[in-house]
Amino acid sequence: MIRLFVALPIPDAQRRRLAQIRTGIDGARWVDEHNLHLTLRFIGEVPEDHGEDLAIALTSVKAAPFELRLKGVGHFGSNRGVRAVWADIEPAPGLAPLRAGIDVTLQRAGLTPEHRKFHPHVTLARLRHATPDAIAPWLAANTLFTTTPFTIDKFALYSSHLGKSGADYAMEMDYPLG
Ligand code: 2AM
Repeated sequence: MIRLFVALPIPDAQRRRLAQIRTGIDGARWVDEHNLHLTLRFIGEVPEDHGEDLAIALTSVKAAPFELRLKGVGHFGSNRGVRAVWADIEPAPGLAPLRAGIDVTLQRAGLTPEHRKFHPHVTLARLRHATPDAIAPWLAANTLFTTTPFTIDKFALYSSHLGKSGADYAMEMDYPLG
């Protein structure tokens, strides 16, 4: 079995910028700079040959390149526990058509539709049992976080590998846009 997901790679300069704000929350498990990405569709565990079929199916996705800028930060979780902190994006009209194309293609290739609401984000840290108070200073310090805009001219299929210090991601295949 192989654990797969479809994501946007983030260019080096913007990943370096994201890496700078990975500090200041006790107990946070920060994502390594080289693993930072923006997930478009989580696939999960599939048999290797099905993964190969999905990789080929994704070559049929048609979408135009678009500009993206990372802007602001947020978190997932509730008062009972914050699970993750992440960087947000500025609204990008090109993102929805790309994601829709990927979803339709993966459904045709046999995956069940994704019903959960999509909130584009770049996860910076995962947390366990963190209270909102524990992350409040970090959120406040980074409300004005922003990167320079960059062009999304490809998306990629990644595999996820669990190691001693968390998951590591490998790009299996990338797909040019336009
Ligand atoms: P996250 O960054 O919000 O944790 C690889 O694990 C990527 O797939 C991560 O970006 C992760 O999102 C996402 N992911 C992992 N498990 C998922 C799930 N069950 N549903 C949706 N996305 C998931």
